Amino acid sequence: MLNGTFTPFPILTTERLTLRQLVINDEQEIFILRSDSEINKYLDRQISNTIDDARNFINKVNENINKSDSLYWAITLSDKNILVGTICLFGFSDENYKCEIGYELLPSFQGQGIMKEAVEKVIDYAFNMIKVKKIEAFLHKDNQSSIKLLEKFSFRNLNEPDKINPDSICYHLTNTIDNLK
Ligand SMILES: CC(C)(COP(=O)(O)OP(=O)(O)OC[C@H]1O[C@@H](n2cnc3c(N)ncnc32)[C@H](O)[C@@H]1OP(=O)(O)O)[C@@H](O)C(=O)NCCC(=O)NCCS
Repeated sequence: MLNGTFTPFPILTTERLTLRQLVINDEQEIFILRSDSEINKYLDRQISNTIDDARNFINKVNENINKSDSLYWAITLSDKNILVGTICLFGFSDENYKCEIGYELLPSFQGQGIMKEAVEKVIDYAFNMIKVKKIEAFLHKDNQSSIKLLEKFSFRNLNEPDKINPDSICYHLTNTIDNLK
């Protein structure tokens, strides 16, 4: 059984970042993240058309956290307290000891190693606190920046074509330490 209780919300910190829960005040940044055409180029998801959509999204995310269905962090720069992106864990499977990861950064904060720093912390949390054995990432086959990021952490391409969406590929990372004992 996974250790999947997310209250109190797990705030994570790294050298430059604080990963905290979303609040309604984040609606402007969430709206940009979920409407910007560059960020959403390879993402197969419902975009936000209005600030209301972004606010509803934040409420939904926090409901899911309360139900322990998923974890969704705002990535903030600790010294400036500004939201630069998000990172999430979802699709938890008690049966298979696995979950999925997703992430996004505002374009002006890309190319600085911010997501690498956030992903490292979240992988550590997933393996050592939630006790998943495997993390999966589904992405568009042309999403090179995401592929590059995943490969830095030794995620491997499953190389199994998705019958429903042939543009989708699956990368996965297995915990090498048996932490289920
Ligand atoms: C995927 C995504 C988060 C990657 O962002 P990113 O900023 O390229 O990722 P990283 O944090 O790993 O940064 C890496 C870059 O920062 C550079 N960098 C600068 N300072 C650095 C530092 N201190 N440490 C590490 N890297 C640093 C690296 O050289 C690298 O640049 P390069 O790609 O030109 O080689 C971003 O492209 C994005 O938000 N895409 C849209 C959403 C999306 O597709 N999400 C994926 C869904 S599966």
